[in-house]
Amino acid sequence: MSQTLREELKQEVAKRRTFAIISHPDAGKTTLTEKLLLFGGAIHIAGSVKARKAARHATSDWMEIEKQRGISVTSSVMQFEYAGKHVNILDTPGHQDFSEDTYRTLTAADSAVMLIDVAKGVEAQTIKLFQVCAKRGIPIFTFINKLDREGQNPFELLEEIERVLGIRSVPMNWPIGMGRELSGVYDRMKNQVELFQGKDHSEIEVRPVADYNDPRIREMAGDYLADQLAQDLELLDVAGDPFDYEKVLAGQLTPVFFGSAVNNFGVQTFLENFLQLAPAPTPRRSTDGEIEPEREKFSGYIFKIQANMNPAHRDRLAFLRICSGKFERGMSVRHVRAGKEIKLAQPQQFLAQDREIVDTAYPGDIIGLFDPGIFRIGDSLSEGGNLVFDELPTFSPEIFSKVSVKNALKQKQYLKGLDQLTEEGMVQVFRSAGIFEDTYLGVVGQLQFDVFEYRMKNEYGVDIQLARTSFQFARWIVSDKIDPTKFRINSTLVKDKNDNYVALFENEYAMRTAMERMPDVQFLETAP
Ligand code: G4P
Repeated sequence: MSQTLREELKQEVAKRRTFAIISHPDAGKTTLTEKLLLFGGAIHIAGSVKARKAARHATSDWMEIEKQRGISVTSSVMQFEYAGKHVNILDTPGHQDFSEDTYRTLTAADSAVMLIDVAKGVEAQTIKLFQVCAKRGIPIFTFINKLDREGQNPFELLEEIERVLGIRSVPMNWPIGMGRELSGVYDRMKNQVELFQGKDHSEIEVRPVADYNDPRIREMAGDYLADQLAQDLELLDVAGDPFDYEKVLAGQLTPVFFGSAVNNFGVQTFLENFLQLAPAPTPRRSTDGEIEPEREKFSGYIFKIQANMNPAHRDRLAFLRICSGKFERGMSVRHVRAGKEIKLAQPQQFLAQDREIVDTAYPGDIIGLFDPGIFRIGDSLSEGGNLVFDELPTFSPEIFSKVSVKNALKQKQYLKGLDQLTEEGMVQVFRSAGIFEDTYLGVVGQLQFDVFEYRMKNEYGVDIQLARTSFQFARWIVSDKIDPTKFRINSTLVKDKNDNYVALFENEYAMRTAMERMPDVQFLETAP
């Protein structure tokens, strides 16, 4: 019996690919996601994901604020099957107002696809998301999009990726022409030319060639483009990084693909290569050491809690990443922090358009658990044991507001709401370390404040006042020698919810100066 479960797990784990797409708004993430789902047969009509993005309010019961702004407040998961692989895409909000949730979602991914606009290059939000992935050392695959438009020279883009993000790259294919002249790509791994046919480039013709000097390329693309291609590829062969799979898996080398999502150009090749190269679910660290996905006992952790998907029921959905074992509906597992057994009765999985009840799931899969308020971000669930997965990192907030309750009589509800929403990971709370009890909230994106204010009013009946401060950086202070209250630096000293000292800085200059002045003190970006 046990042997067969192990075999089953081995097979299912090997099939799974769980990843997130990281990009700056407008790079084409919705378009690319939609094309991937179309290939996987998860949706059948082009435009359905886009339509969902625009008109979500018409079909779903997402919270009011999400309806008003037409954006996804929190990210969800989409899954499909393709070429024998079971694919889970973790959706991260592409809107400017992204939040700490976006970062936390990345901890549940085994790899990431970095989408870059050929004209705009590496943009602000991409950098932030990249850094979270880079810290974990997960493999990152790059798709350079919008090749049908005039963009930057591909060499300059690769150079920018290396300079700004500090990762080496290896182009898997190379454009033949760009913008209006774009006629296809050369696949460097398979030595084949993929030509775009038809008015909208929607048909693709694949022609094997001997190498990039093959005279047939000349016939296909003309002298000018063939010369350019041969020149570029020769340069890459000489000066570029060779493909090194070990480095890819270690997140030190990013395979780069060129294409155009909206024209469906290069998407299928990308998908196929990506599914081959991306890792299956990887082991996770815990109090019991590394937990292999093939371990027979079920385990997982909560990385996100989404509230009020249905305001009428005030229910919450806790997103669990399965790390080992087989999930079966109705199974009992140990909720380690709460120290009790719970039954997982109505778990949900996410298809492109709907949620549905799931009966079985495997490592790498994400399931949504109905949460009557028993879960917190980072909680571990496990079968027959008390293993606890490594704590999720706390990300340094970038926007800070002083918060207070408008009606003093509501103080009790206010504190309760503040407490619960902080536990949920909605916002981070800091209290001033001095005589005056000021409370500050720290977030990564402005939207978190809007949602916080909305939920305080709707769930706790409390009107709050938020006064934006000019702080931009929070650094956790670790010092053996000096008492932080004695620091003479240009910052405001506060304490986080665990009473760790944190310095809030108004600008980078003040922060750098403090670090230089006190070399013995550690200024950490995340909570110790
Ligand atoms: P996002 O989720 O990353 O924010 O981007 P989204 O897919 O919504 O794409 C942003 C815009 O870029 C869209 O245009 C989309 O059509 C366009 N786009 C995506 N891929 C390509 C591509 O390969 N080439 C070109 N030229 N454009 C691309 P829009 O005008 O905002 O919307 P729409 O009216 O075209 O749908």
